[in-house]
Amino acid sequence: MIDSGLRDRAGRHVTLRPVDDDNWRAVADVAPRDDQRAWVAALAARYLLLADRSEVWTSLAVYADETVVGHVMWGVDDDGSRWIGGMVVDAAEQDRGVGRATVRTLADWLATQDGGPHPVRLSYHPDNTAAARLYTTLGFHPTGTHDGEELTAELTPTPSR
Ligand SMILES: CC(C)(COP(=O)(O)OP(=O)(O)OC[C@H]1O[C@@H](n2cnc3c(N)ncnc32)[C@H](O)[C@@H]1OP(=O)(O)O)[C@@H](O)C(=O)NCCC(=O)NCCS
Repeated sequence: MIDSGLRDRAGRHVTLRPVDDDNWRAVADVAPRDDQRAWVAALAARYLLLADRSEVWTSLAVYADETVVGHVMWGVDDDGSRWIGGMVVDAAEQDRGVGRATVRTLADWLATQDGGPHPVRLSYHPDNTAAARLYTTLGFHPTGTHDGEELTAELTPTPSR
């Protein structure tokens, strides 16, 4: 379990846990709002399959207390940088602070993995204003490179992190 002790705005404890025999159905059913499907998969099931087929990505279940409320995945690039992908908070659980707690928790864990510090990268579609605001306010800055149509952003480690 990855736990930074963070809570959402309802006071629920946000943790990131392995996808296992008990929770995979709930994770697979995580779905964004219909209007967000232009930027992410219609169901987190797609990301579970991607992680299963890939040697790069590892999926995690996002919990608020003991309820599965989202999906996120992480990977390591050839240059040692850490990546976050597949960030989806279920439509019914959005705007409660879960996304912010999730990205902070995972980014802090990845940045210090194996002794760190590591840059943490992600990408988002430029029209995805919710994602852009979330990542920008957490300190991610555009690198000037693109991943397809998406902008790449990085959280650069500093000595104080
Ligand atoms: C982006 C997403 C993960 C944010 O998760 P969330 O739990 O709803 O976000 P939070 O409630 O933690 O809000 C965090 C910040 O995101 C931004 N944000 C969230 N919803 C927003 C909206 N509708 N409009 C603008 N900004 C928004 C705000 O900056 C917010 O800051 P605050 O904490 O000061 O309110 C969620 O909207 C989502 O799953 N979207 C669909 C999938 C997606 O686009 N994933 C990102 C792919 S790169």
